[in-house]
Amino acid sequence: MVVGAPGSDKTELIKQVIYQFPQKRDYVWVIFDPKGDYYEAFGTEKDITLSVNGSSYAWNIFWEIDPERATTDVIEIAKEIFPIEERGGEDKFWVVTSQQLLSAFILTFYRQALETYKRYFSGKIDRERLKEFLPTNEDFMNFINQLTIEQAYNLLVEQEDLKSVAEYINPQAMKQASGVWSNFYSRINEIFIGDFYKTAGKRQMSIRDYIENPQGRKLFIEYNVETGEAVAPIFRLLVDRAIKYSFARENQYNKMGEPRKKYFVIDEFQLIPKLKRYQELVNFGRSYYITSIIGIQSIAQVIEKYGKDSANAVVAGHAYLFALRAYDSASSNLIRSRIGKKQVWQKEPVHVQSKGKGVYIADKYTATEYFPVSEEHLRTMPVGQCIIVTPDGFREVNLYTFQEGKRIIAELLRRYKSYI
Ligand SMILES: Nc1ncnc2c1ncn2[C@@H]1O[C@H](COP(=O)(O)OP(=O)(O)OP(=O)(O)O)[C@@H](O)[C@H]1O
Ligand SMILES: [Mg+2]
Repeated sequence: MVVGAPGSDKTELIKQVIYQFPQKRDYVWVIFDPKGDYYEAFGTEKDITLSVNGSSYAWNIFWEIDPERATTDVIEIAKEIFPIEERGGEDKFWVVTSQQLLSAFILTFYRQALETYKRYFSGKIDRERLKEFLPTNEDFMNFINQLTIEQAYNLLVEQEDLKSVAEYINPQAMKQASGVWSNFYSRINEIFIGDFYKTAGKRQMSIRDYIENPQGRKLFIEYNVETGEAVAPIFRLLVDRAIKYSFARENQYNKMGEPRKKYFVIDEFQLIPKLKRYQELVNFGRSYYITSIIGIQSIAQVIEKYGKDSANAVVAGHAYLFALRAYDSASSNLIRSRIGKKQVWQKEPVHVQSKGKGVYIADKYTATEYFPVSEEHLRTMPVGQCIIVTPDGFREVNLYTFQEGKRIIAELLRRYKSYI
């Protein structure tokens, strides 16, 4: 975890860390890159970038669904897109209905695709083949956008398990139906925008496929602050899915039986809405070959998103803390408490008065504790100065910039090669 005020060197530092990690074809790299810094440093033509504008692939929501457990998957996805906990009380009805309608329509489409598939193929469903029958996000949205309430109702009411959802938009109670429908309509059109809507002839992808088979590509999630918070749930969904699949049993080893490492780099961690699976990632990730690097400007931002207890757990879950210049007291308190207090023992001779003279009898020892790094020091550290806190202690270092670091590593490699 890297903590530091704006402009304190976080991104430069994280780039150097990435540069030093081994890169293999079957390693996963999920990089949340709100300013495009990482794509600029590491991106290539073949990598995957996902953003509202300028994605290199078109993300397909249907490809995330596992045919073996379609209903549960779809419900989970709809909940991630329209989460209940984040909206106010009176809104709840509208969120729930939107959530249920979204999952009902995704399921309807998915089932139709499955049916067509089964007309041609029998036996266990082959996910690759099924893709040919699945709609794109654009097909889906275009269809929803031209449905009338009556058509929507008829479509859902035919399916036994979707009958109760259909009732929300029953044309016989037109007042409620049109309220629910227009709310759903505007919510999905707020979320599925730009490249999350239009396929524009691009190759499609899913997070599931990427984690299973990265093929030497990195996944850059280019969250664009200007597009606003409305699409933030999609970005959260992408990262949460990536975490979920990284824990899957089939994604632990390659064909040679070697561990497949998965790296998560989340700079500006506070920009993603609360991730459902982040705590899981820091607590258990190590056993699944997952490494997570996050950059934050201040711990207060994490507390705001995660609440105090979860924020503490998230912080404690990171074995290494890179502390850069910090201005706010929440961050400097955190850094100082991670470093821990030092103890000093003081010896003081004890005298008693005896016949008008001071007589020495023993030494008294007292312990005092203090923080070895002051708040003032953290506040005034120059850019590039860093306190690295590891499980074994702490050290203060001066960092190179990414360009310098790269040059030095290249030079070391050159010397090493001429030596052997
Ligand atoms: N080690 C260094 N020595 C000198 N200058 C540096 C060093 N590291 C970074 N800088 C300068 O500081 C600038 C800011 O660094 P960086 O972008 O890494 O900050 P940041 O903490 O990620 O900021 P933000 O929170 O705004 O994203 C860089 O553009 C670079 O010019
Ligand atoms: Mg930065």
